[in-house]
Amino acid sequence: MARINKGSQERFRTRQDVFDAYTLDTLKELIKKRVIDGLSQAVFKGKESNVFLAESAKGMVVVKIYRMGVCDFRNMYNYLKFDPRISPLPRGRRAVILTWVKREFSNLLIANRAGVSSPRAIFNMNHIIVEELIGRGNGVSPTIESSAVHEPSDFLMQTADNYRKLLGAGLVHGDLSSFNILDKEGNAVFIDFSQATTISSQEAAHLILRDMRNVAVHFSRRYADKMLLGIDMAKKDSIRRLMELFWKTARKGIKSGEWTDMVMRDVEREIMNN
Ligand SMILES: Nc1ncnc2c1ncn2[C@@H]1O[C@H](COP(=O)(O)OP(=O)(O)OP(=O)(O)O)[C@@H](O)[C@H]1O
Ligand SMILES: [Mg+2]
Repeated sequence: MARINKGSQERFRTRQDVFDAYTLDTLKELIKKRVIDGLSQAVFKGKESNVFLAESAKGMVVVKIYRMGVCDFRNMYNYLKFDPRISPLPRGRRAVILTWVKREFSNLLIANRAGVSSPRAIFNMNHIIVEELIGRGNGVSPTIESSAVHEPSDFLMQTADNYRKLLGAGLVHGDLSSFNILDKEGNAVFIDFSQATTISSQEAAHLILRDMRNVAVHFSRRYADKMLLGIDMAKKDSIRRLMELFWKTARKGIKSGEWTDMVMRDVEREIMNN
């Protein structure tokens, strides 16, 4: 009898977990529509989704497949309900998850159009998103969590500039951290817009602040030995100063409207108190 080694068992488990009938049908449709030619290899297995590379007529692309069975749809609902674009709110587990994925895809489109450095949105069907592969040659670009950036000051400014473009398009990222920023040969690329919402959401100021704090904490911890744009990263108040710098850069040139003024005031107050 053929033996199945541990690695294969592991792969099989992953496959069974993600490739249910609904997923297989959706993948078949994507192939029929010539969006992809077929899956090539697994890149990442997260809490709620699997990310694969896939062949397509235009080369390798990324396919993000939500595992419908494990998605925390109550948590998704709690985010969706603060997004003024989602009306009426979806009812039931399946509808909530599909709305979540659709929103992620449309966020990605908005980011693309605003010139935010982000993977190009290619296609969405059901619980699957197809997007541009951010990669170096044949490989996948690393997150800034997994690999050190060469020019921290420059990278941080790119990150703030990217955030400015996103805010200019009326969106906050909502899940920005070293895990959702890729380093493509020195270029900061934002990914994972699943929690992005509009700046008019009552959660906006809180989310902007959380995003900025995540980035500031990461840069100040990782690059404590370096001088970053005149900020002594070893100093205690470096995180607050980084957040100030990030915010100043990110809001520069954004047209003031009633909502932006409000969010800006909230964020500025919070940075000062931080
Ligand atoms: N377009 C892309 N190009 C290259 N790598 C990508 C791309 N999209 C995702 N990845 C890789 O897959 C990982 C997971 O993707 P993503 O952040 O979108 O999922 P996630 O929402 O965090 O997953 P989960 O919530 O299920 O834990 C990323 O950290 C990155 O390594
Ligand atoms: Mg992520």
